[in-house]
Amino acid sequence: MSTERRTAAIIGCGDIAHHHVTGYQREGVELIAFVDPLPAARNQFISEYGTGKAYASLADMFTELKPDLISVCAWHLLHAPLTVEAAAGGVQGIICEKPMAVGLADADRMVDVCAASGTKLAISHQRRFTPGWEKGRELIAAGALGEVVMVVAKFGAGLLNCGTHAIDGVRFILGDPATEWVMGAVERRTDKFERDTPIEDSCMGLVHFVGGTQLFLQCDLDMKGASFQFFVRGTEGMMEVSETACRTMDGGAVGWVDQDLGVPANEINVIGGKANGRQTRELLAWIDGGPEHRCAATTARDTVEIMMALEESARRHQVVATPLAEKGYPLQLMMDEGKLPVEVAGRYDIRGYLNREQADEAQYDELRATGMGHHQIMRTLWERQQEG
Ligand SMILES: NC(=O)c1ccc[n+]([C@@H]2O[C@H](COP(=O)([O-])OP(=O)(O)OC[C@H]3O[C@@H](n4cnc5c(N)ncnc54)[C@H](O)[C@@H]3O)[C@@H](O)[C@H]2O)c1
Repeated sequence: MSTERRTAAIIGCGDIAHHHVTGYQREGVELIAFVDPLPAARNQFISEYGTGKAYASLADMFTELKPDLISVCAWHLLHAPLTVEAAAGGVQGIICEKPMAVGLADADRMVDVCAASGTKLAISHQRRFTPGWEKGRELIAAGALGEVVMVVAKFGAGLLNCGTHAIDGVRFILGDPATEWVMGAVERRTDKFERDTPIEDSCMGLVHFVGGTQLFLQCDLDMKGASFQFFVRGTEGMMEVSETACRTMDGGAVGWVDQDLGVPANEINVIGGKANGRQTRELLAWIDGGPEHRCAATTARDTVEIMMALEESARRHQVVATPLAEKGYPLQLMMDEGKLPVEVAGRYDIRGYLNREQADEAQYDELRATGMGHHQIMRTLWERQQEG
């Protein structure tokens, strides 16, 4: 383990960036730069954390500084170009936010560029560090459910947004099996976006893993109970597992048996805190020659492949086998091909309120002074604007 204090830079000073800062602080990493085209955003981080220098772009930063680590915390479509630029700048490690990329070509480019530069790239599916999912993985690996037959996951807010966490989480608890094929259905009748990326109104999919385990997922359909809790059925038992709880039932049990996670549910961080701290620690250890990070880009690209295969299946009306041949964004291709005509006119973005460009910074500061988090502040400012 290196004894020198490592340095880090945050690229994209918005909501999730605060949790990356927490992760670095918990592991003693020094924050030396905050990069954001918006002066209010980058300067806020300098003043709140009392460290680092502010830059308008990654290129500007590299003219003066080369941090050891970089966090890519901008919106989805910028993940690939910023990761590639960071790797070209010679950093040792990158934590890039989810979804890793919008399309398999970008995901594979990120993997290849980082492999060539020797940069360790982790994708921030930080829920892999929650005790509930870890317990689920441990019990399944120990054969507590026999052979896993089927996992069911139900979530909302878009395939690229919550879907990537859910699919990645199911892969995690199953021990990261390879995918054999995917079949999917996609609806997009409204002009829906999420953080500037066109997304579906709703979708569902069946994922068949090598070995025969299947995952059935639905997104933005029935929202009752939608969460990051998975229902797992095995040949010898069943499990309900979320980030904060895990319970099992088998042939000998009277009913559900709560599994001891060793930590109370209300002390588990699904974002930030211990989750981001441990995510950072595992990256530092990986850089120092330790085991591959559980969120390594080579694993996360398989989650991208499942999401893209689901959409490609809807595009082609076929079961789609992996490796996925289509390297673009199948939803965009379907839109371009006229396969998803918009029936309700009017572009909208379900996370558009996060765009800080037009925000009233005086009101922002007032709300921040009350202790409110960034996401809630932006939502509140947007609601005030709607009310006129
Ligand atoms: N892992 C999680 O649980 C989790 C949770 C929330 C968000 N996210 C992901 O984090 C990413 C950011 O989401 P957010 O909610 O923090 O958004 P946000 O809008 O709050 O912050 C994004 C910031 O990036 C800045 N930015 C834009 N272009 C840039 C550029 N070229 N270089 C540097 N900065 C730039 C913006 O000005 C903004 O300040 C998204 O991809 C999202 O999916 C992950």
